[in-house]
Amino acid sequence: MERFKDKVVIITGGSGSIGFTTAQRLASEGAKVLLVDIDEDALKDKQNKAEKDGYNMSYVAADVTKSEDVKKYVEVCLERYHKIDYFFNNAGIEGIVKPMQDYPEDEFDKVIAVNVRGVYLGMKYVIPKIEDGGSIVISSSVAGLQATPGMVAYIASKHAVIGIMRTAALELGERNIRVNTVNPGVVDNRMMRSLEEGLNPGNAEEVKDDFENQVPLGRYAEPKNISDMVTFLFSDDSKYCHGSTFIVDGGMQA
Ligand SMILES: NC(=O)c1ccc[n+]([C@@H]2O[C@H](COP(=O)([O-])OP(=O)(O)OC[C@H]3O[C@@H](n4cnc5c(N)ncnc54)[C@H](O)[C@@H]3O)[C@@H](O)[C@H]2O)c1
Repeated sequence: MERFKDKVVIITGGSGSIGFTTAQRLASEGAKVLLVDIDEDALKDKQNKAEKDGYNMSYVAADVTKSEDVKKYVEVCLERYHKIDYFFNNAGIEGIVKPMQDYPEDEFDKVIAVNVRGVYLGMKYVIPKIEDGGSIVISSSVAGLQATPGMVAYIASKHAVIGIMRTAALELGERNIRVNTVNPGVVDNRMMRSLEEGLNPGNAEEVKDDFENQVPLGRYAEPKNISDMVTFLFSDDSKYCHGSTFIVDGGMQA
């Protein structure tokens, strides 16, 4: 089924786990996808994979914290594909794990720069160009709805982007541009491996077991579970979903 035929989507963090899984899903349904990421090697790798699968996908290397780079990825998208229908504002970093009083200022600034400034800049430069009737999804997290000790920067950043989403929802409703967050719980990928190790160095497996015990479904999400939600939020099946948080956490918040 080509639900997204001729639709153009920008995905930041596009060579990462959730970003690329979403790119593959949208491209498999006919979308033209521009991957944006700071990791050029990973982008090349993903582009090769996409080519083999026959997907209409290309990339641009950009640092989402720099406005010149953000302007560039918007321009590249318009030059290559002539419009923007959907925006997955997804790039993010987890930072380190330390109690608040020991959390280094420069680490705090780094996480906020990518996860908040990067998301804000994406909105700032995509909004004037995205088609009326489009849809924007920002990656927040269950960390945007509840805290975990030791993760002050990440927790603050994922709460902050819900504020960005809500403000944008109020501003863009009149253009029928829908804006929502996806709020994953624990996803089985690199970011969680890093956090498991940070939360209890040398005992990552134990941390994973603990997390699994906190999930009523008893398991981590696969990246696909998150991209299924993002795809829904871009599709016509979510036409009245606007200004909301969409939790995909196996019941953790219950
Ligand atoms: N993995 C999880 O369990 C989980 C849970 C909840 C929310 N999230 C959120 O989902 C999003 C995607 O995470 P993921 O799990 O795919 O992690 P990931 O590390 O696989 O992907 C993140 C991508 O962002 C890119 N990136 C980092 N800094 C950047 C910058 N300055 N400019 C451009 N790109 C940059 C990275 O290179 C990477 O490819 C993030 O916002 C993350 O916080 C993840």
